[in-house]
Amino acid sequence: MCGVLSCPRTVLSLDSSSLIFVSAPGQATIGPSILHHHHEDITHHIHSFLILCSPIPPDLLLSGNDGYFYYCYLLTSSKDIAVTSGGETIILKLEGVIKKFGGLVAVNGVDLQVNEGEILGLVGPNGAGKTTLLNLISGIYRPDGGSIQFCGEDISRLSMDRICRKGIAKTFQHTLSFPGLTARESVMIGSLFGNGHHASMGEASAEAEELLGRIGFPLERIDMPLSSLNVIELRRTQLARALASRPKIILLDELMTGLNPSESAEAVALIKSLRDDGVTIVMIEHVMRVILGVSDRMVVLDRGEKIAEGTPDEVVRNQRVIDSYLGERYA
Ligand SMILES: Nc1ncnc2c1ncn2[C@@H]1O[C@H](COP(=O)(O)OP(=O)(O)OP(=O)(O)O)[C@@H](O)[C@H]1O
Ligand SMILES: [Mg+2]
Repeated sequence: MCGVLSCPRTVLSLDSSSLIFVSAPGQATIGPSILHHHHEDITHHIHSFLILCSPIPPDLLLSGNDGYFYYCYLLTSSKDIAVTSGGETIILKLEGVIKKFGGLVAVNGVDLQVNEGEILGLVGPNGAGKTTLLNLISGIYRPDGGSIQFCGEDISRLSMDRICRKGIAKTFQHTLSFPGLTARESVMIGSLFGNGHHASMGEASAEAEELLGRIGFPLERIDMPLSSLNVIELRRTQLARALASRPKIILLDELMTGLNPSESAEAVALIKSLRDDGVTIVMIEHVMRVILGVSDRMVVLDRGEKIAEGTPDEVVRNQRVIDSYLGERYA
């Protein structure tokens, strides 16, 4: 879990032996003036304010007599850090990302930032580049330009499995990559090859059962091949497989397509509970009622470009979004 460090500056460069300070998760915020006041002798070593993605050893805790908590940490690698800005921890940051298919520019210079712990809704007309963008983040495609940073590390050139092991999971708009696998086996793949977690076959099987049960999959069908499952069961299997990889962030591509209103209400409750468990969520959804209700923030793509972002309220009032996607219905 990343803590949140309130700091007006965005992190600049990193040095492999930088002395840094971070706040305890959910606790203090540290401003430059406080650091200056209490740590006058060492402030000159601090050139950035950072947040660690991994837990901080308790023996590094320094309790300030001002009621703030400080951590003192010698940074050994930049891969454990996430950048903070304006009080939010940025877990994922895309800058100028481009993807071309022949002459078609499917994603055209998109900047995007995802804050830890939020639900970000990604919407836009058919062919806007939404799926392509998630495929770029999860490593299915490599960008033709720009960069993708996850917890402060550039992942734009990493393979899909390495990205998955770092804690990014994705569900697919079109299901069924391995129709011969059973639901259980499909979820076990997530456990066995996920985020730095090395489960045995037995553990993975038990975990698959637990996860599928948690998200409402009918367990009497757990050993049926995917090809015999209905759309709802497939979507639940997909989600369980993504969760089994223990993601820090999960990318959901039209997970609710094909669900009836009560099933999508259940799915919304489930997505919110995942967020409450600390998973960051980016989701593509065409059903506006659903995505407006569940998103903390939204980003709108059109023809490969980001045309708007903001709270659901802001987005539905944005004239460009109304013109290209929504019509007057939600304004
Ligand atoms: N593998 C591919 N090869 C060639 N063109 C592609 C490929 N994948 C996507 N495209 C094209 O890139 C553009 C963006 O497609 P993408 O699937 O990302 O859109 P989308 O926003 O997810 O649309 P939808 O809402 O219909 O799912 C489209 O014009 C699509 O035809
Ligand atoms: Mg799509």
